[in-house]
Amino acid sequence: MEQAPKEKKQRILSGIQPSGTPSLGNYIGAMRNWKLLEDQYDCLYMIADLHAITVRQEPAKLRAQSIQLLALLLAIGLDPEKNVLFFQSHVPQHAQIGWLLNCYTYMGEMSRMTQFKDKSAKHADNINCGLFTYPILMAGDILLYQANLVPVGHDQTQHLEICRDIATRVNGVYGNVFTVPEGYYPKVGARVMSLQEPTRKMSKSDPDDCFISILDTPDAIRRKYRRAVTDSDAEIRFDPAAKPGVSNLLSILCALTGEPMDALVERLSGKGYGELKSAVTEATVETLSPIQARFNQVMGDKAYLESVYRTGAQRAGILAERTLAKLMKKIGFIAK
Ligand code: TYM
Repeated sequence: MEQAPKEKKQRILSGIQPSGTPSLGNYIGAMRNWKLLEDQYDCLYMIADLHAITVRQEPAKLRAQSIQLLALLLAIGLDPEKNVLFFQSHVPQHAQIGWLLNCYTYMGEMSRMTQFKDKSAKHADNINCGLFTYPILMAGDILLYQANLVPVGHDQTQHLEICRDIATRVNGVYGNVFTVPEGYYPKVGARVMSLQEPTRKMSKSDPDDCFISILDTPDAIRRKYRRAVTDSDAEIRFDPAAKPGVSNLLSILCALTGEPMDALVERLSGKGYGELKSAVTEATVETLSPIQARFNQVMGDKAYLESVYRTGAQRAGILAERTLAKLMKKIGFIAK
């Protein structure tokens, strides 16, 4: 019997920096959605180690965090056969396209990036050029794979916009070189906030009590939520502007349990913040425990981890080279 032609799946690329142990924000905003997309899309997930050195990293720690992150991607259930899992630094085309795209991006565009402003304020002793051109490398990451969708949290919106601008500009000059990608954001949890400063995003590079790490023990999770900043009016209500701390805990709970916000608020109305904190602690421990168990298993199998990242780099490299060669030909370089 004749088989119907297979419809080509849309392509997804996303990445995460090995700049610390991932936070619950990384998990809710990005990583767990990656798992949900693996059957429907053709997915590549990258450990963005080249990006991580825009901030000074200790070599041994960078190595440890990179392997740990790969193990975590496997622990959240990403299937390395269905998804291409790789280290950015293993595919040299990322650095190459980064240079090329530098020449199609304006200083003014980069100067407007809020992450550059934030990070250069935070690392005033190391405002390097990489920190400034970071969004260009990120655009290259996405465009190399002709990605249609990029699943990320809200903090990456501006980077994605500039990626689309660069792609459109290059296409305008040379014809059809790049797919212009779209962002793909979760409905709940696209911006999980810090537990200590709930008007800022939760970040894995902040002080320990500001964020829940995916590898935190139940005791640490309980302690951090107990100390989480709320407010003094003792009413459980979702109102991020007036009640950022409480609203953040509610959002985390919603994201982890899948319960709609209205139902959750109704169920907790009249109860104390202690109860909200217990509920969010329980949901977090329940989500993270099985991931941690799988993580410990995977970390024990170095040969497996090595085979995953080697295969990933090979698969990614073939796709990346195709786009890079196409772009270089269009620009006018002599083919090798
Ligand atoms: P990174 O490592 O900061 O974060 C990884 C992913 O987690 C999301 N995220 C959050 N989501 C919700 N709430 C939070 N508090 C929170 N914190 C982080 C981020 O939006 C991101 O999706 N530049 C990227 C890495 C990167 C990349 C790429 C991403 C490099 N190249 C190409 C997509 C495509 C970054 O620093 O992510």
